[in-house]
Amino acid sequence: MSKNERVTFGSKIGVILATVGCAVGLGSIWRFPYMVGENGGGVFLLVFMLCTLLLGLPIMITEFFIGRRSRSNVAGAFKTLAPGSHWSLIGYNGVLAAFLILGFYSVVSGWTLEYMWQALTGSLSGKTTAEFAADFESFSSSVFRPIGWTLVFIAMTHIIIVSGVEKGIERASKIMMPALFLILLLLCVRSLTLPGVKEGLAFLFKPDFSQFSSSVVLSAMGQTFFSLSIGMGCLITYSSYFGKDTNLQMTAVQVTVLNTLVALLAGIMIFPAVFSFGIEPTAGPELVFITLPNIFAQIPLGNVWSFIFFILLALAALTSTISLHEVVTAYVHEEYHMTRKKAAWLVSLGVGVIGIFCSLSFGLLKEYTIGGLILFDALDYLTAKIMMPLGGMLICIFVGKRIEKKVLKEELTNKGSVAFYFFNTYAFFIKYIAPVAIGLIFLNELGLLKKLAELF
Ligand code: PFF
Repeated sequence: MSKNERVTFGSKIGVILATVGCAVGLGSIWRFPYMVGENGGGVFLLVFMLCTLLLGLPIMITEFFIGRRSRSNVAGAFKTLAPGSHWSLIGYNGVLAAFLILGFYSVVSGWTLEYMWQALTGSLSGKTTAEFAADFESFSSSVFRPIGWTLVFIAMTHIIIVSGVEKGIERASKIMMPALFLILLLLCVRSLTLPGVKEGLAFLFKPDFSQFSSSVVLSAMGQTFFSLSIGMGCLITYSSYFGKDTNLQMTAVQVTVLNTLVALLAGIMIFPAVFSFGIEPTAGPELVFITLPNIFAQIPLGNVWSFIFFILLALAALTSTISLHEVVTAYVHEEYHMTRKKAAWLVSLGVGVIGIFCSLSFGLLKEYTIGGLILFDALDYLTAKIMMPLGGMLICIFVGKRIEKKVLKEELTNKGSVAFYFFNTYAFFIKYIAPVAIGLIFLNELGLLKKLAELF
């Protein structure tokens, strides 16, 4: 298929839903609450919101520009827009990030299947908080079961990927995202009537500035990139399928708002429960998995609700794993002239291997750490806190340096047919503010800013 004949999304709502599907997933519902818990609560939320507005939204618009302008996969996009340059390195960084994320993301996605299964078989009821926590620990550290679910998840992703872009992704997203949103709302209402509601909401919304640190800022920036799927070309790949009349700015605003809303709902659902049931907010990756069963245990027909919830969560994860897989598959397929099917197989097998090792890092391979982190955490750190922000910074520098403002405006306004009121502010932001801010956050985390300040 030549580049001009690329498939495009069938309908407007399809574009938004598929892109929301790529963004909204475990990042907002599983990762966000545990990041909030580990990084001091409200102060993290505040920095996260600032990062979303000041970095997330402008970078998303910029990725949409690159994708639709080039109509190519993430590595090819830079070759198309800046032939003969080294900018395609940004694309390689993105492909590698997608591949690694898919490895550990599939493990958590597998956990959602286990919980769905447990809800179905009724084993999520009648337990104490300590029993729920012990159950999770024994499940996640065992060898075969979590690996089995991880591989099932990768297989499901694989099947959708080989069945084609439009059919697979669009059909899946249309039904699932609204349903997930509704059930989240319902669970928030339940959580808000628990005894720990005051403490929980204060933890989430009241910043305690004594908790502020450089690592809170790095974590919040990482969460922004991870949960919006920016900085690694996923949205470049998706927007390469957008139609000519898709309003890029509007789509970016809608995706960002919806994604942030889902994260906030997840926080409102989790923290009152965390304080009601005496769970440690700093519990880490298991936070959501030990908190949710407690909430369901307090609801009439809890097993039914919990089954529906975990199905939808698994599907939200699936729309994200599809997008991650698509980044790597589209790259291998188009750059190495391999059939799509063969490319997808190669990716799935590779991801399967990483997934197995990530899963084992909770148990059998727990002793093997990288910089004090088990493999799962190390890959999460490397991708969310380093590779994605680095990619985002380079994307901004690329567009700021290599793309004429006229071209940028033409694409973002659909040749002048939609308005872009703050275009100059946006362009200034992308060229100067965003790359400098990300660079400073990196330097700060490395302790280099402090050293520089001491020098002067
Ligand atoms: N944004 C997704 C989530 O929040 O679950 C994760 C993700 C998907 C990250 C796709 C990056 C990506 F390219």
